[in-house]
Amino acid sequence: MKKIVEVLPDVEALIERARVVTLEKINTAIAERGVCTIALSGGGTPKPLYEAIAQQKLPWDKIHIFWGDERYVPADDPESNQLMARTAWLDRVDIPASNIHPMPTDKADPAVAASKHERELQEFFQVAPGEFPLFDIILLGIGDDGHTASLFPHTEALKVSDRLVTVGNKDGQPRITFTYPLINQARYVMFVVAGASKKPALAEIFAPNGDASTYPSRLIQPQGELWWLLDRAAGEDLRSE
Ligand code: 6PG
Repeated sequence: MKKIVEVLPDVEALIERARVVTLEKINTAIAERGVCTIALSGGGTPKPLYEAIAQQKLPWDKIHIFWGDERYVPADDPESNQLMARTAWLDRVDIPASNIHPMPTDKADPAVAASKHERELQEFFQVAPGEFPLFDIILLGIGDDGHTASLFPHTEALKVSDRLVTVGNKDGQPRITFTYPLINQARYVMFVVAGASKKPALAEIFAPNGDASTYPSRLIQPQGELWWLLDRAAGEDLRSE
């Protein structure tokens, strides 16, 4: 694993740097393999990044969009990560509908939806059950509690290491999430983190030793490149490397 940590002066500089790095990795993936697979994070931080990427001229037919996690709500719910990305980015570019692979949230049982998406990933990447596909890019954020994707502290999702997709749990609310082993297969994992509220969790995540069940972002140790892009408010106590 190659780890890059960059602390940018403010959110605007963070988003611009994240845009540049994301575009670089998209173009590298397409140059090397003719296609780019990217899994998006949700929440609020990445929205301006998605708006910036939507301004770019890219071979959209060569880019496949996935999500690293999803709230278990309808696709038109204001809480939906899919809706946020479509509004900020995907509805603004000429990307084929078949290149967009949202997590299903229309099953009564989230576990059924998670299994369905697992099969969809296996089919897309042509991997057998038990094999983990390699995404090119997985974008992630962290919560104030140190969660990432929908891998929340002290939840069952942190123990799942033999699946691609599982059910997360935020305060009793179901989520669908990539598992940490799937995330760790990626060629480029990029955390984009802003705001002073993330400082305490970052200190624990970057500590030499610590408890991954309390700070699940510690589980993210990808075989490829691990990028931490932070604004100063979040990362001022960390050193760039
Ligand atoms: C989600 C995200 C989640 C997010 C963090 C940070 O579904 O909410 O995928 O993991 O990245 O909660 O969210 P903010 O960027 O809004 O602080």
